[in-house]
Amino acid sequence: MRKDFLVYGSPAIENAEIEEVVGVMQSGWLGTGTKVAQFERDFSEYKDIEFAVALNSCTAALHLSILAAGIGPGDEVITTPLTFCATINAIIHAGAKPVLADVDPVTMNIDPEKVLAKITPNTKAILPVHFAGRPCDMDALCKIASEHKLKIIEDCAHAIETEYHGRKAGTFGNFGCFSFYVTKNIVTGEGGMVITKAEQDAARIKMLALHGMSKDAWKRFGDKGYKHYQVVECGYKYNMMDLQAAIGIHQLQRIEPYWHKRQEIWLHYNEAFADVPITLPTQAEPDTRHALHLYTILIDEQRCGISRDGFLDAMTAQNIGIGVHYLSIPEHPYYQQTFRWQPEDYPHAMRIGRQTVSLPLSAKLSDSDYKSVISAVRSIIALKV
Ligand SMILES: Cc1ncc(COP(=O)(O)O)c(C=O)c1O
Repeated sequence: MRKDFLVYGSPAIENAEIEEVVGVMQSGWLGTGTKVAQFERDFSEYKDIEFAVALNSCTAALHLSILAAGIGPGDEVITTPLTFCATINAIIHAGAKPVLADVDPVTMNIDPEKVLAKITPNTKAILPVHFAGRPCDMDALCKIASEHKLKIIEDCAHAIETEYHGRKAGTFGNFGCFSFYVTKNIVTGEGGMVITKAEQDAARIKMLALHGMSKDAWKRFGDKGYKHYQVVECGYKYNMMDLQAAIGIHQLQRIEPYWHKRQEIWLHYNEAFADVPITLPTQAEPDTRHALHLYTILIDEQRCGISRDGFLDAMTAQNIGIGVHYLSIPEHPYYQQTFRWQPEDYPHAMRIGRQTVSLPLSAKLSDSDYKSVISAVRSIIALKV
């Protein structure tokens, strides 16, 4: 058993970002400024799209995208029950009603047929989540959206590197929303980004992210002289700081080597668990790129001789930090009380949520780290079957 606790999702942080952060601290300009502007430029270049707006979270990115899409009270947004609560909460924050469509049991992504069945005259958008980094069936979802005149807002929190039929995740619909939270493929601590092709949408999101103050209000303390700002809408405090962007600029440069490192670990896991009675993640489909964000296994108590929660405890006892992505949304009391959702109404998401475990998968893992994960999984399951 390993001696120290392996923190789940711990990111690789290198000297370049440490030095950049120190430089920002010494510069005296810690808040939104030139580093944020550079991170936005670099990200829009990486995604090959006109506009990128950096924010303090993906939750903020989703919330402002929904508002910028003109969605609000009386409107419905169809999304997946197998997601983080932020996806659902962002819809509620915008005043709209979230509507769930169950996932495909194999891909774990929203099932386009189930989306179709949930469309009403109030439906305004589809909000797909590229779960674990695997792209959703965007051909089918885009077709539904265009036939029913719906917007598409992609939750790409897991999907920075994801591609589908030659196109990059986040560029299919009106908005793509990204997370740089500490466990994500690249990090800024907390942080998010919206990408869009529409200049006026990018400008509105930027303005809403800083209290609704008029364009370029962040420059008001700059060396070009004080600029008065005007509050033109009641906005939010969602801006990214230079301190965060200083990390992101360097992380983004390493996005490819980090992806290859996770792929290496992914393949080692696949090989090591081939004879273990757990369900492994399914292969990426042809002509797509999986972002390899989560390595999720399913623990079926009948086959494994241990419950999912028993397995979580056993892994922790072996000093391995693990994750659960996710208990399905209708398992939570707030949504049950507010929307009368029941887990059984979304059976695939319910089963996955009750069986799933995410194993450590980060560019920071050393060979001995991932080997300790393999031997812990093998020993826990072997003891039970
Ligand atoms: C699918 C999904 N959507 C949204 C979010 C929210 O991201 P953030 O923590 O940057 O607000 C997360 C974060 O874990 C997520 O996994």
